[in-house]
Amino acid sequence: MLKEEPAGEEIPNLFQAIYSAMIHWSRLLVGGIALPLVFPWLVYNLYRSHFKNKIFRNRSLEDKVVLITGASSGLGEALAHAFHKAGTKVILAARRKDALEKVKNDLITKYPSKNTPVVLTLDLHDLKRIPQKAREALDMYGHIDILVNNGGISYRGEIADTDLEVDLRVMVTNYFGPVALTKAILPSMLERNSGCIIAISSVQGKIAIPFRSAYSASNMQHKHFLIP
Ligand SMILES: NC(=O)c1ccc[n+]([C@@H]2O[C@H](COP(=O)([O-])OP(=O)(O)OC[C@H]3O[C@@H](n4cnc5c(N)ncnc54)[C@H](OP(=O)(O)O)[C@@H]3O)[C@@H](O)[C@H]2O)c1
Repeated sequence: MLKEEPAGEEIPNLFQAIYSAMIHWSRLLVGGIALPLVFPWLVYNLYRSHFKNKIFRNRSLEDKVVLITGASSGLGEALAHAFHKAGTKVILAARRKDALEKVKNDLITKYPSKNTPVVLTLDLHDLKRIPQKAREALDMYGHIDILVNNGGISYRGEIADTDLEVDLRVMVTNYFGPVALTKAILPSMLERNSGCIIAISSVQGKIAIPFRSAYSASNMQHKHFLIP
C-alpha cells in the first residue's frame, strides 16, 4: 500500500539540497576559477609595482643623444618637441639654419630642460659632405643614441614631364642621403654595441599611386634599406 510522506518534511529537504548545491558551486568557483586567476594577478601586480621604477628608469630616454634630420619643419619638428620634452639631448638637423634656430628657441621656451638643443646644418643631397657632418654630430656629445632619418622631399608629377634631374634629386635626398648618414653613424653605434636607427617612410613606398612615381620609388628603397 502506498504510504504518503508528510508534505512538511519535503520542504526542508529541498532547502537543504539547494543550500548544499550553492555551497558546492561557490567552493568550486572560488577554488577552481577565482583563486587560479586572482593569485597570479596579485603576484603580477606586486611585481610590477615593485619593479616599476626600475623598468621605467632603464627605458628612459633621458639624456639620450638624438639626431633628427628634417627637424626644421613638419614631422621632424614635432619629433624634436617630443624628444626634447622626454629629456633627450636633441641635435636638430636640416638645411635652413634660421628655421632650425626657431625650432630650438621654441623647445627652450616651451619645455625647460637641462639639455639645450643644438643645431646642425646638413644637406642630405650633398653626399660628399655627409661623413663630415656625421662627425660633427658625433663630436657634439661623443656619440649618438638615436638617429631619426626623417628629412626628405616630396614630389608630384607625370613621369613623361619629369626631368631625370628631378628623379635624381628625390632619390638622392630621400634615399642615398639617409643611407650615407646611416653608414657614417652606424660604426660608432656598433662600437658601443648600442644605438637605434629610425626610418620615417611613407606608405607610398609600399603602394604606388599616380603622379608619385619618383617619391614612391625613393620611399620604397629607403624602407628596404633601413628595415631589412
Ligand atoms: N607628411 C606626410 O604625410 C608624410 C607621410 C609619410 C611620410 N612622410 C615623410 O616624413 C618626412 C617628413 O615629412 P614632412 O611632411 O614633415 O615634410 P616637411 O614639412 O616638408 O619637412 C621636410 C624636412 O626635411 C628637410 N629637408 C628637405 N630636404 C633636405 C635636404 N636636402 N637635406 C636635409 N634636410 C632636408 C626640410 O628642412 P630644410 O628645408 O630646412 O632642409 C624639412 O625639415 C619625409 O621624409 C616624408 O617623406 C611624410
